[in-house]
Amino acid sequence: MDKLQSPSMFIGVRGKGIISFGSGQPDLPPPESIFKILPGYRSFKYGLIQGNLNLRKALSKEYQGSDEDNFVVTNGASEALDLTFRAIESLEGEGTNILVHAPYYYSYIPLIKFDHLKPVLTETIAGKIDIDDFDRKVRDCKAALINSPSNPTGRVQDIKTLKQIEKICRDLNKVIISDEVYKDLIYERENYLLHGDNVITINSFSKTYSMCGYRVGYLYSNDKKIVNKAIEIKTYSSMNTNILSQEMAYEALKVPRSYVDKQVKIWKERRNVIYDGLQKLGLELWKPEGAFYVLPKIDNPRKAVWTLFKKYKVITYLGEWFGAPGRIRLSYALDSKDIGEGLKRIGKYLKEN
Ligand SMILES: Cc1ncc(COP(=O)(O)O)c(C=O)c1O
Repeated sequence: MDKLQSPSMFIGVRGKGIISFGSGQPDLPPPESIFKILPGYRSFKYGLIQGNLNLRKALSKEYQGSDEDNFVVTNGASEALDLTFRAIESLEGEGTNILVHAPYYYSYIPLIKFDHLKPVLTETIAGKIDIDDFDRKVRDCKAALINSPSNPTGRVQDIKTLKQIEKICRDLNKVIISDEVYKDLIYERENYLLHGDNVITINSFSKTYSMCGYRVGYLYSNDKKIVNKAIEIKTYSSMNTNILSQEMAYEALKVPRSYVDKQVKIWKERRNVIYDGLQKLGLELWKPEGAFYVLPKIDNPRKAVWTLFKKYKVITYLGEWFGAPGRIRLSYALDSKDIGEGLKRIGKYLKEN
């Protein structure tokens, strides 16, 4: 059971009969049009560190008031987060505090620490940010990291809260790092995107376009100091992001909104299946409003994750990895039939243990 140190033991694990509620990778295919460039593609030289110009230009059309110089195209949102933290460390100094709302995406805390910054936690109420606690704690931090819709809670912060966060951070001269990789996967209302000169937006093609293996993401900021620092760090670390993947991402941006709407409809159906199913099994959980995760409470989560895997061939993640002890996280990025089978096995586990 001590093997349950981190999600790495489950990432990429597939096998006969395994139902994986593990990693958050969409099973729905990317838009077909991203593949059409493949047969004729012959470029093989280094690309621009900042990212392909056509892709940055296309991205700038999505963000009012931006231009291609405001973007750095990265190896997924993961590298965008890493570059952002490293840029902040470089500009603000080692040990700078970063406010993170818990439960949080499991990479945040290790990444912040790897980059010599210090995470400070603000708790949430049923996954929603407690604005008073946020207001108190952000004063000792340089930046606040916001992730809405959230991995692992599936919760979407209320528009009122997001606007309060914008105002507090603007007034106090704090940076907002807005991880919006699930911004298009939202079920309950229109989204509201944090914006302003103090906002660093993180996004990715992994979730909206089901392109996680191609590793394309980006950071967007109106602050040239951040953008230039990120380019400088990338110059000496990963260099350019895969140029072929960037061309595929460029094609993905051209697909009509109906592609995303269709995906969201499927995600919502699955959300209903897993939410209702887990409730029927007697587990207590918050209703996801976006993304594709649930975070139910369970007795002895360590035993549950281990036994579900070993005996029932069901992969789930430990809530502890996300700052949510007493819970397990399930991704519902699999079809409804498999979700149903997984729920059956979880029911069996609950009965037999
Ligand atoms: C909240 C959040 N941010 C960032 C990432 C990393 O995404 P990418 O595949 O673009 O690196 C993930 C992946 O699951 C995520 O859930």
